[in-house]
Amino acid sequence: MKIKKVRGVKDILPGEIEKWQWVESITHSVFSNYGFKEIRVPIFEYTNLFSRGIGETTDIVEKEMYTFEDKGGEKITLRPEGTASVARAYVENKLYNPPSLKKLYYIGPMFRYERPQAGRFRQFYQIGVEAMGSQSPSVDAEVICMVMELFERLQLKNPELQINSLGCPECRPQYRELLKKAGQEKFEELCNNCQQRLDRNPLRLLDCKVESCSQIAEKLPKTAEHLCEKCDQDFSLVKELLNSAKIDFDINFKLVRGLDYYSKTAFEIVSSDLGAQSAVCGGGRYDQLVEEFDGPATPCFGFAIGLDRLVSLVSADNNSEIFRNADLFIVALGEAAEKESFKLAQELRKQGIWVERAYESTSMKSQMRKADKSGSNFVLILGDNELKSGACPLKNMANGEQKDISLEALIASAKDVLKTA
Ligand code: HAM
Repeated sequence: MKIKKVRGVKDILPGEIEKWQWVESITHSVFSNYGFKEIRVPIFEYTNLFSRGIGETTDIVEKEMYTFEDKGGEKITLRPEGTASVARAYVENKLYNPPSLKKLYYIGPMFRYERPQAGRFRQFYQIGVEAMGSQSPSVDAEVICMVMELFERLQLKNPELQINSLGCPECRPQYRELLKKAGQEKFEELCNNCQQRLDRNPLRLLDCKVESCSQIAEKLPKTAEHLCEKCDQDFSLVKELLNSAKIDFDINFKLVRGLDYYSKTAFEIVSSDLGAQSAVCGGGRYDQLVEEFDGPATPCFGFAIGLDRLVSLVSADNNSEIFRNADLFIVALGEAAEKESFKLAQELRKQGIWVERAYESTSMKSQMRKADKSGSNFVLILGDNELKSGACPLKNMANGEQKDISLEALIASAKDVLKTA
């Protein structure tokens, strides 16, 4: 019986993985220039970490978590996102000591039982960032600049940044009441989901994708117009700093994010090249989450990029950084040459040369065909005569030129020999 993969997951194969590795290596490089350090947290946690952290009335907690009882009877969930885990790790490992801004990032798989479609998977990958321990709006702006710089380095075409402010525990309750009242007036026209959530989570009305709700949302009171003085000042500073960094953005008053821990600045980066699932990055400020997990008051700002979506936006055309070819293919003719090619390949790889071989001593023609297919830049031909004389033909596959080189010189410094061949 053929066993297939589970719905909503995928294999990332050679040919595709090079793009992922390239994106990840640029990510490490950009983030480290901003002082961010990698953190690795478990892929599964106790279920209540997510239900408390993300919010009982969110889509994720209500219907998307992969939850199971382990053999010890513990309720476990495969992580649907990384922020709750990082906040847990921050508290558990007392990363607040000594007090300073902790700048953390992670790359890894997340799990959500969503309806699979283009760009939406049940196992997907995120690059996540959490800056923990500062309430300065300048952190918000800097972290947004960092992701925009990453997208620029990856040559993304037209990522669109949208920002909003969701207010704080001071001003949000009044705003929620306003929304609730406005929602109740239109109650009959709301979708089932919004009707059910109106009391507990009226903010979700703003980003409901159902057409009738979305039309109602257009006329609802806007968060940014109901902020307290401090939230208003902070939001203005974020906008001012983004402008000073020449980062374009739009204010999207419907942007509320699907997780409950946010306050103040929220943002998303969308791309029209992604189709229906257009968000490639989302995040914002979450100033209460660490306290929710019994840690000290720790204002935080973070985001997560959907890595699957990001990779799909990266164009590999003409990007030699992404797809590297083998440096040298050794064609070995005869038993002695085949043994020698094994040794030679080991020797050259130690010098940092990517060496391929035919592994079987078949005909010259068949090995040359393999060499061609491998895309190697050079081919070295090794037979009994060459072993005796110590001189081998080396073919430059780009221009077809062939010349004899000394095996001794190749072993002494392969890079120099290949450079001049
Ligand atoms: P999120 O908006 O739920 O935020 O997810 C962030 C990104 O992950 C999305 O913009 C999208 O690109 C990608 N994503 C989400 N679900 C899927 C899926 N099923 N398939 C493919 N990609 C997906 C968070 O997860 C927050 N933890 C972000 C954050 C970090 N906020 C503060 N710190």
